[in-house]
Amino acid sequence: MDDYKKHYADKVVLITGGAGSIGSNLTRALAQLDARTVIVFDDMSAAYSWNIPSLPNVLFVRGSVTDEVALKKVFVMKPDIVYHLAAFFANQKSIDFPQHDLMTNGLGTLLVYQYAQMCGTGRVVYASSGCSIYGSSAPLPLKEDVMSMHLTSPYQITKMLGELYANYFLNHYELPVIKTRFFNSYGPGEVPGQYRNVIPNFIFRAISGFPLPLTGDGDETRDFTYVMDIVDGLLRAGYYEGAIGQEVNIASGSEVNILKMAERINELTGNRAGIIRTKRRQWDTKKRLLASIERAKDLLGYTPQTPFDEGLELTIKWFRDNWDQIKRDAEFPPGMSSAVFGVITKK
Ligand SMILES: NC(=O)c1ccc[n+]([C@@H]2O[C@H](COP(=O)([O-])OP(=O)(O)OC[C@H]3O[C@@H](n4cnc5c(N)ncnc54)[C@H](O)[C@@H]3O)[C@@H](O)[C@H]2O)c1
Repeated sequence: MDDYKKHYADKVVLITGGAGSIGSNLTRALAQLDARTVIVFDDMSAAYSWNIPSLPNVLFVRGSVTDEVALKKVFVMKPDIVYHLAAFFANQKSIDFPQHDLMTNGLGTLLVYQYAQMCGTGRVVYASSGCSIYGSSAPLPLKEDVMSMHLTSPYQITKMLGELYANYFLNHYELPVIKTRFFNSYGPGEVPGQYRNVIPNFIFRAISGFPLPLTGDGDETRDFTYVMDIVDGLLRAGYYEGAIGQEVNIASGSEVNILKMAERINELTGNRAGIIRTKRRQWDTKKRLLASIERAKDLLGYTPQTPFDEGLELTIKWFRDNWDQIKRDAEFPPGMSSAVFGVITKK
């Protein structure tokens, strides 16, 4: 087994947001690598209990990163490694609830760093967002050193804030923190909903027999990353020393056209309802997204393993295997624009 995988045997690992889309997959991976305890710390504001892996070395603690009493309960277990994934996700939700976004992503992140520092945690891995902090005009592929001050949503601002606080804790307290930047994760574990990413929402609509709503021209691109590749990047980030203090893109390093992605989902699900055009979202100013993964290769030995088509098939399989729960829990409130969400409403 690779050294970075062996590293987790007998470790206590805390995952804030561990019940979420990426966190639940990271939880399962760490439990299978024989971590002594994987503490899933989550307030369940955007998660579902059926999605938390039920394994003997997984301990679920319900609580918020903004609640110091709850944080003490988990940090008293002296985690060796902390993955800070909890977040108020994502752009549109932060526009609708900017104060909540700042509380969770700003104050919550500050508190997690503070407790990690006080408890002498050996490594903190912060989940930042490459889709957010590079802005709209950086050259492609996006390299870690080019950042933007011209951000278009509170979420983008607070994801960057988490990086700035990481720098402060590193410089002032020598907290060994790594800033990983993800790009459009997709895969098993992400339940669709009003505020969720495009791929789960498209698969949900396609299986339900609805047309897929494209919000741009169709020539937009994204760097879609299969969730297990992100998990692999996180496992590496929790181990390799060279990445401490660094910002590292964890992405697929390849560009996928949004229109082609939608057509492929329709093909794979047998959806004949096609594609419809809708208005572009105001905050969505990025035509193309493509990450450079050179730094992740150099510092972490990271190479994504999952071709896009294979990732889509695995995600669709997960939808079909868990359809009843997904249908029950997918949150599309009634009254939402029928142009965007058709007639799908939460039952
Ligand atoms: N999914 C992506 O495409 C993507 C891209 C870039 C960055 N990220 C970042 O990666 C991380 C994980 O993303 P995800 O897709 O798994 O999101 P997610 O919403 O599925 O998971 C976040 C989890 O945090 C929990 N949470 C929210 N507020 C909390 C609080 N106050 N206290 C404790 N738990 C709380 C939610 O219940 C949820 O389980 C986030 O920090 C996100 O900003 C994700």
